[in-house]
Amino acid sequence: MFRQLTAAALMTLGLCGASLAQDPKAAGAAPAAPAVATPVVPVAGTAGVQSANIFQIGPDADADPNYAKQTNGERAKVQPGNNAPVWRQVGGGVTGFSSLPKSEAPEAGNLIQPFVQYPGSRYTTAGEAWRQVRNNWLIPYGGALLLIVLGAIGLFYWRVGMIKLHGKPTGRKIERFTPFERSAHWANAGAFSILAISGLVMAFGQFLLLPIMGHTLFGWLAYVLKNAHNFAGPVFAVSLVIVIITFIRDNLPAKGDMNWLLKGGGMFSEHELKSGRFNAGEKVVFWGGVFVLGLVVVASGMVLNKLVPGLVYERSTMQIAHMVHSVSNILMLVMFMGHIYLGFATEGAIEGMKTGYVDETWAREHHELWYDDVKSGRIPAQRSPQPVPGPTVQV
Ligand code: HEM
Repeated sequence: MFRQLTAAALMTLGLCGASLAQDPKAAGAAPAAPAVATPVVPVAGTAGVQSANIFQIGPDADADPNYAKQTNGERAKVQPGNNAPVWRQVGGGVTGFSSLPKSEAPEAGNLIQPFVQYPGSRYTTAGEAWRQVRNNWLIPYGGALLLIVLGAIGLFYWRVGMIKLHGKPTGRKIERFTPFERSAHWANAGAFSILAISGLVMAFGQFLLLPIMGHTLFGWLAYVLKNAHNFAGPVFAVSLVIVIITFIRDNLPAKGDMNWLLKGGGMFSEHELKSGRFNAGEKVVFWGGVFVLGLVVVASGMVLNKLVPGLVYERSTMQIAHMVHSVSNILMLVMFMGHIYLGFATEGAIEGMKTGYVDETWAREHHELWYDDVKSGRIPAQRSPQPVPGPTVQV
């Protein structure tokens, strides 16, 4: 897989390949794979051809002198219906006329990316190689990973069930999240949910929904969700940065984190291991899922939405951005499936994110070091000026 992905990336970058027109067999059936990649060789007579209309017959069509000499009628008589010369030139990367500005559409004059070849592959275009990576690797393996994690979560729920409080709630509250922290979190979670649903339909819908819904209905659904995806993207990006800044301090590594991870937080024993405001598992999600994957997803999404000023948006740019976006998204989804599951399965956790408050017993059982800090007065039990829903923990 790695070799194919690397080769596809190289191909999209135009780092290896050979022209289709160099091999007479290539116009029809794909030839057997050579052992080594050969450098790109331009189609005879087309090197450096710019702004030549490849479909034009006449003196201007200097891309292929022999082809230019023939009239449409002559060609039709000698080889009826044969437009292979046109496609040789198209596949050779000949640039034609385009009224679109070069700055906005640098490759508008090229119908398709040049034909290329890499070790172990057929002659193809980089676009087709990208399509194969998408349909043969990203979709099946990404989909399988999502199903495996969904199954593992189901299994976990079946064997372990809800993570309930051991002690009785005291009724005394601690403010766990301020209104600002909750707003940032829910804005981000809302945008994430829209992005996840629309992204999944865009990736898997053609295989799972299209056969059931038919082209018209699926076309509309994909169109609506694609637009929703484009609008939710910037909301996600901005709220992600706010979430990172808001929660970074309490997610910094602390003594005992490694021990917590090695022992799985004590999840399978009677008592959870002691932790600060966020435990080491939450910190892994924060640094891996929110910080690294979140920023990679946002950066590659901005490229796909053409929001990075000064970047040249060629097909290869989009293909690489798409592959990076897909892989990072699947990994991020997997991490957040765990995060969302624990949010709902841990009794009292979702209340903390909804109302801002958790019970004293919840704090002691799940984040004992944080609870100790509140009890000793190092962290105030009430941080924001909002009305308190009952008695708070007294120092
Ligand atoms: C869409 C459904 C989501 C649900 C139901 C959910 C639920 C929760 C809950 C219940 C908590 C509190 C955990 C605690 O008190 O320790 C929490 C914390 C948090 N969530 Fe979410 N969340 C969701 C999505 C997201 C997304 C998309 C992100 C970011 C990309 C995110 C980032 C965070 C962060 C940074 C925290 C603070 C804990 C930490 O730093 O690990 N959440 N979430």
